[in-house]
Amino acid sequence: MQYPMFKVHMPVDEVLTKIKSVLASGFLNEGIEVDKFSKKLSSYLNVKNLVLLNSCTSALTIAYRLAGVKPGKEVICTSMTCVASNTPVINLGGKIVWSDVKPETGAIDPNDIIKKINDKTCAISFVNWGGNPAELEKISEIGEKYNIKIIQDSAHAFGSKFKGKDLSYFADFTTYSFQAIKHLTTGDGGALICKNKNDYLSAKKLKWFGYDRDNIKDKKGEWKGQRWDADIDKDYVGYKFNMNNISAAIGLVQLNYIDKLIDKNKKNANVYEKAFKKSNIIQTIKLPEKSTSSYWVYTCLFKGDRNKRDILLEKLISEGIAAGLVHIPNHKYNAFEDSNTQLPGTEEFSDHQISLPCGWWLNEKNCEHIASRVKTLSNQIIN
Ligand SMILES: Cc1ncc(COP(=O)(O)O)c(C=O)c1O
Repeated sequence: MQYPMFKVHMPVDEVLTKIKSVLASGFLNEGIEVDKFSKKLSSYLNVKNLVLLNSCTSALTIAYRLAGVKPGKEVICTSMTCVASNTPVINLGGKIVWSDVKPETGAIDPNDIIKKINDKTCAISFVNWGGNPAELEKISEIGEKYNIKIIQDSAHAFGSKFKGKDLSYFADFTTYSFQAIKHLTTGDGGALICKNKNDYLSAKKLKWFGYDRDNIKDKKGEWKGQRWDADIDKDYVGYKFNMNNISAAIGLVQLNYIDKLIDKNKKNANVYEKAFKKSNIIQTIKLPEKSTSSYWVYTCLFKGDRNKRDILLEKLISEGIAAGLVHIPNHKYNAFEDSNTQLPGTEEFSDHQISLPCGWWLNEKNCEHIASRVKTLSNQIIN
């Protein structure tokens, strides 16, 4: 039997019916379906100021831009994430300063953030790894104290909660990904949630060249249906980042199933938690108090050295269990400056982490089997 790490949940017939009606309407670009998806999603997450986009990378780009990232400015980022969390900083001309993560969780270390703040810092950015919330309250307190914008990459964390609320309550900007292998997919797509209404209005402009599609006015301030003769402010020269009606139609159907899917991830993760609780070799990751993870993947730590961890992964893969690392530390890439920064917590987490599949395509028995193979193989490799 194969246990893949990712598998798209797609109610094909329902999606096809919906897409057919979009195709028949002749209006494929951003329109009524995007509007409906935006409203339904905002209500599902219980949030305001949500902008739908064509990817999470686009959402991050707009967030960094609104946080003031440009040449001469610095962003405190984590290395232990997808490169998409960090490439927009470079593309906007900003400088990345790496913050370390806590080795026992992989989450950004609030104490290290404080050490890296200086006059040039305009944003702090981090990922909620695998769906596991970082120390959101401490991070948002730092943002407030130093007057620095917090950007939270929640690409892995749709459906995770902190104090019962959507994670976006704890950052100036929160981004979600609806890319092909995420909890909720629109093929490709993303969302940006802004804490502040002005940022939301600016994000809406930036997503579509600089025009506000909902509120097109001409230079005299009069409402105009025709978009191309509206004005573009020189501070808001934007991008082509909007979501289209086809993606939104998929999203609308997906949203009907999301609770059941996330519930499955959580139940499967719980099987691993129980199985590894008393293990001497596999260490589970403790979440911050009052937080819940939607477990895009289940990450835990192997206590042997990196070579042995890699042998474990190879053996699991040879048995059809798609265990893996998901991402590798970004500071190892030439593209990012400061590649010589010392990040002991990041190195340690990266050397010991293993991620296991835990999505809707697996049941609790499957996860018991995977956990048992992880334990047996780990014992053999270590002893
Ligand atoms: C942590 C993280 N951030 C951002 C992204 C980029 O998402 P998208 O493909 O929607 O741009 C990904 C993609 O997998 C990711 O894992």
